[in-house]
Amino acid sequence: MSSETVDGLLAELRLAEKVRLTHGATDTEGTATGFVPGVERLDIPPVRFSDGPLGVRTDEPATAFPASSALAASFDPELAREFGRALGREALARDQDVLLGPGLNLVRVPHCGRNFEYYSEDPVVTGRFAAGVVDGIESTGVVATPKHFVANNQETARASVSAEVDERVLREIYLPGFRDAVDAGAGAVMSSYNRVNGTYMSEHERLLTDVLKAEWGFDGVVMSDWFGTESVVGTATAGLDLQMPGISAEELFESMGAPGGEGDGADRGDSGDADRDADGPDGDAPPADPTEGFDYADGMPDPTTGGLYREELADAVEAGEVPESRLDDMVRRLLTQLDRHGLLDGGRDAADPGGAVDTPEHRGLAERVAVRGTVLLDNDGVLPLADDADVAVVGPNVDEAILGGGGSSEVTPATETSPVEGIEARAEGSVSVARGHPRVEDISLFDAFEPDDGNEGEAGPDPSVDDAVAAAADADVALVFVRDQATEAADRESLALPGEQDELIEAVAAENDRTVVVANTSGPFEAPWREDAAAVVAGWYPGQAHGSAAAAVLYGDSDPGGRLPVTFAPAEAYPTADERRYPGVDGQAHYDEGLLVGYRHFDATGAEPTYPFGHGHSYANFAYRDARAVDDATVELTVENTGDRPGREVVQAYVDSPATPDDLERPPRELGGFASLALDAGESRRVAVALDERAFARYDADEGWTVDPGEHAVSLGRSSRDLRLDVTIER
Ligand code: BGC
Repeated sequence: MSSETVDGLLAELRLAEKVRLTHGATDTEGTATGFVPGVERLDIPPVRFSDGPLGVRTDEPATAFPASSALAASFDPELAREFGRALGREALARDQDVLLGPGLNLVRVPHCGRNFEYYSEDPVVTGRFAAGVVDGIESTGVVATPKHFVANNQETARASVSAEVDERVLREIYLPGFRDAVDAGAGAVMSSYNRVNGTYMSEHERLLTDVLKAEWGFDGVVMSDWFGTESVVGTATAGLDLQMPGISAEELFESMGAPGGEGDGADRGDSGDADRDADGPDGDAPPADPTEGFDYADGMPDPTTGGLYREELADAVEAGEVPESRLDDMVRRLLTQLDRHGLLDGGRDAADPGGAVDTPEHRGLAERVAVRGTVLLDNDGVLPLADDADVAVVGPNVDEAILGGGGSSEVTPATETSPVEGIEARAEGSVSVARGHPRVEDISLFDAFEPDDGNEGEAGPDPSVDDAVAAAADADVALVFVRDQATEAADRESLALPGEQDELIEAVAAENDRTVVVANTSGPFEAPWREDAAAVVAGWYPGQAHGSAAAAVLYGDSDPGGRLPVTFAPAEAYPTADERRYPGVDGQAHYDEGLLVGYRHFDATGAEPTYPFGHGHSYANFAYRDARAVDDATVELTVENTGDRPGREVVQAYVDSPATPDDLERPPRELGGFASLALDAGESRRVAVALDERAFARYDADEGWTVDPGEHAVSLGRSSRDLRLDVTIER
């Protein structure tokens, strides 16, 4: 198969058939998030698209992997590759051809409701993880869809807000992750809902056509986000290739209730997990008007635009408003991806598409990623736990695994382990359980589409703080599991833990000075009780292996390998604390903090983070020595585990570039590269760290990427605030 095949098909296709390949349609099997029917006459197979970044979302169970933020906290792109391969295999097993992920928007706003789907506040970390996951997915024959292109950094007003951002900042901060995902072979890119400098991203010719396609050489498909198109001619001529979902919201909901659609899970359905999130009193069909009562101005796109291409594209082509060559290009791009993965050879073998779901390997990987991403923020020596410690397990949700946030990334797990189950399976001492706080419910954008089932929450009396305190009093150690609430289509209102979880922690810690707090959150959380806790752990959304992964780290069977891919600080310390910047005023979010996002801001202003970017303790200790530059883009050093147990270290290299000729702003230091390595007690190793060229360069509107000549200082350390050695690279 080759471009000849694609050319041959293009020559055979009629106008109506071509148009059918530029937009989604109703999935007759009701399994996919999106569906393009193909053209039977020419053996072009149907194409199925499925969410998403944390696991495959059909109405059947799949491995519920940890959140993207947990994966990124591993600082190990090889793990990302494995993760991508597993996602791809699960997609194949569920008969899906295109995976709607990874999500890789930069973490600009700590409140963003989808940060758990994204990697980092740093473009190099983001790019390496995006590339790893894309490479893994594509290696299985499934198309990866990095999303949401670009500057979709908040959920508040995501469908309308304009990110007002200058070119240098776009190039240095927000675009690199997408560039790396494209270079890694992504076959599709999803445009975002928001506008950039006033233009909807689905209509942004400069970014879609000039930058993504022409400059970066992207030959795949640009698809819209669901209902993320405002026009036909405007989007088609700007470079959009596929309009999704291609049908109206009503049709989408009907298909969900239709035979074969199972009335749930598929398309924009619920989480599919009947035990957690019933989709109506008796699994009723969805409401007749799914948009009734939903304020889509704030977080949701206009659901009436779903069928635009189906209704109007052919006419627009016939009227010459969209050149036929553009239509051909749209179709060619889709066919090229199908061809590339061998799908024009009669489609995948329906009897055996390859792939596998919920295998022991995938279960193991889900646990390994959760472990490797766990960040030990503070530890006064209480961890790792003694095998025979008597423990009290406390927290509102200790009897369930925290799978993820709400929205299109929800996965129905094949299996799950709660914290209580994980601790009970591992502990050799006694285990008492007292939740101490009413359950903190999952929230989901889909809740807005669900009829109110009148269920006001749990029956019976609320769990009491007193019970938790009593359990803590009798135990050697109290483990308090707390969580936040986050969903697509809304931002977190605050970085404080919801409900009275802070009070619960305070009460338990006042009783037992060996209190360990494990926070399962989408991102930064405020920890006013920090000084009172003996240890603080960031466990992100760990997915189905929550309990077993937590036990492995808390008991020290595995070293906590995670480091923070985002800075943790009180809400008012972030650059987006200014309303003009976030959520914006008059429909515009002004990115006038410029390059000073995340640690770049904290370093430039001297503001103190609670926990800096890159921070995380190991149970071992490490010494760094003998650093030198190998060449002008690589440094090496010796790392020794000076502790008495095996451990995992993440060496980070930050570049401080010389002043620019006209004194343009540069962040004090920028992460250039990193390396994650496991070392036995007493072991030393020479480690090379490859530095990203962009860490030395700045983007100049006329000259493009420019390296200013002079001495570039490279600092090697354990975090952005714990720098141990310096090397100079002359450029
Ligand atoms: C989300 C996308 C998702 C799509 C399909 C949208 O609401 O923004 O990330 O892939 O829905 O479910």
